[in-house]
Formats: sequence, structure tokens, C-alpha cells
Amino acid sequence: MKQKVTVVGAGNVGATAAQRLAEKELADVVLIDIVEGVPQGKSLDLAQAAPIEKHDAHLAGANDYEASAGSDIVIITAGIPRKPGMSRDDLLATNRGIMKNVVRQVVRHSPGAILIIVSNPLDAMCHVAMEESGFPKNRVIGMAGVLDSARFRAFIAAELDVSVENVQAMVLGGHGDTMVPLPRFSTVAGIPITEWMTPERIESLVARTRSGGAEIVGLLKTGSAYYAPASAAVEMAESILKDKKKILPCAAYLEGEYGFSGLFVGVPVKLGKNGIEQIISLRLTPEEQKALEKSAAAVRELVEAMKKMA
Ligand code: NAI
Ligand code: 2OP
Repeated sequence: MKQKVTVVGAGNVGATAAQRLAEKELADVVLIDIVEGVPQGKSLDLAQAAPIEKHDAHLAGANDYEASAGSDIVIITAGIPRKPGMSRDDLLATNRGIMKNVVRQVVRHSPGAILIIVSNPLDAMCHVAMEESGFPKNRVIGMAGVLDSARFRAFIAAELDVSVENVQAMVLGGHGDTMVPLPRFSTVAGIPITEWMTPERIESLVARTRSGGAEIVGLLKTGSAYYAPASAAVEMAESILKDKKKILPCAAYLEGEYGFSGLFVGVPVKLGKNGIEQIISLRLTPEEQKALEKSAAAVRELVEAMKKMA
């Protein structure tokens, strides 16, 4: 039996994720959006590409959640993206309201689903989704680390003029300016990048990774990145749907790991059919741990700010 993935938010990230899910034939896909006609139109357009792209995934679009019933995974991209000059945190109040509303309806129709959260500010939105759904921590997962690591990987590959397939990288922490790229755990053909580049070159790639989202916002001017974000969310969905048990950096609810409790922080996790099946604890240097603490503090600040909201 084919599996089912609902993507909420048929905008740039959501529609691109739906396209990738269908073209990889990972599942039947339901697109949901608040704007009438948009999810229906985009899913019909994608369905008409199927004979050319050679896949048999079924696509449907809707404005209500009945069509999403019984989804295995729900990817939530609903919300507003940032514009030039805005930080991800500027989206907090608006996207919190949207996330609450969306999750309430998702849960009613798909009580057993695994949620992949994409909307920003990412780590704070994971808190909203977990609280509103009442789901266990293994079934609420935030997408950020896969994207941030992919950016780091792309920059490393370009710098060394090697295949991206040779490059692995690890970015931990919250999805913000304080994210923590870890050169020590980033490799080219299995060899740490510290063997390939000077500390100065590494630092400049780290800095570009940290502002990778803002670089694209500055270029697009009307919204934020979506091709790589969609690829990242779909890589996570694929690992779950196929029970591949990939180790990927994702926002996970920590209860003591890395010294944090009651907080979503980006850490390496194993993704399989049950969602997060294991949190991988890396032994960090004091500097790395300090950087992770700074990043976690930025997430906690947003969580505290949300507690003061009506
Ligand atoms: P977009 O504006 O293209 O699409 C958002 C869609 O959400 C729109 O179609 C809108 O109609 C829909 N929407 C708004 N309220 C809704 C509701 N109550 N129910 C259903 N749909 C609703 O934005 P884009 O570029 O797709 O980004 C979506 C979100 O993902 C933003 O918050 C953005 O910041 C975030 N994002 C997060 C990334 C990450 O790494 N975690 C990466 C890229 C984007
Ligand atoms: C990004 O990093 C906007 O969070 C989004 O591109």
C-alpha cells in the first residue's frame, strides 16, 4: 500500500516539496493551503507532469483537512516567509497563530502522523506543534540542520572543486544566526576539512553558512529560499517512509541530551519509521559546547517570549 504525505502550505517550499515527493514516488501527496484554488491548481499541474516525469504518485489539493486523513507524515510549511531586513524571529507571532491552527486540524484527521515542521522561526514553531498536537517527542521533528548542513557542504565542495557527493557536514543548534557548523565533524572523502583548508578559509565558509538563508533573501527580495529547504524536508520524509535510519541533524526535543531540557535544539538524530528513533550524543569540545549553549539560549528566549503571548 502506498504511503501518504500531506504538505500544509502550498507556497514555494510546500509546492516544491510536493513535487519532489511525487517525482521520487515516495508517497501519494495532499497539498493544503488556506488560499482557495492554489493547492488544487498546483496539485493538478503536478499531476499533469506525471506522465512526462514517469511517476504514479497521486496528487490532490484542498483547503480543508479531510483530504489529509490518515497521513503518515505531515510537512508543515504554512506561514509567512521573511523579506529583506527581517530576521526569522520577526515571524514569531504570525506564524505561531498559523501553526496552532494548522496543527489542531492536522491532528484531528491524522492522529498517528509524524510532523516535519518547516515554518519559521523553526525551533519555536516545533514547540508550538508539540504543545498543540500532544504528540510524543519522536513524532515532532524540525527541518533546519539538513538544510544548513547542505549549504555548508555545497560551499565546501565549491571551495575545493570536488563532488558534493564527497562532502559530509554537520551543523547543530537552532536555525538562526547562532547555528553551530562543526568543521571537526565535516569531511571530504572521509577526511576532516581541517586537513584540506586553513582555519581562515573554514571560518569564512562557516560565516557564509550562518547567513546562507539571508544571502538568498537578499537576492530574491520577495521571499526566502525554497529549493534546498524542500529537498531537505523530503530527505527527512524519505528516511522515515523507507525506514532508512539515516543520521541527520534535525531539531529534536531534548530531555537532558547535550545538557538541555525541555527545548528543541538541532542535533544529529536517527530517522526511521517511528520518527526520531535515537538522539546521537557527540562529545563536543568546550568551545563547541559553548557555541551550542549560545544557540540554545536564543531558542529559549523565543519560547519564553511565546509564553507571554495571548
Ligand atoms: P510562501 O509564502 O511561499 O508559502 C507559505 C504558504 O502558507 C502560502 O501559500 C500561504 O497561503 C500558506 N498559509 C498561510 N497561512 C496558512 C494557514 N493558516 N493554513 C494553510 N496554509 C497557510 O512561503 P515559503 O517560502 O514556502 O516558506 C514557508 C515557511 O517556511 C516560512 O515561514 C519560511 O520562513 C519557512 N522556511 C523555513 C526553512 C527552514 O529551514 N526551516 C527554510 C525555508 C523556509
Ligand atoms: C532559510 O534558511 C528562510 O529559514 C530559511 O533559507
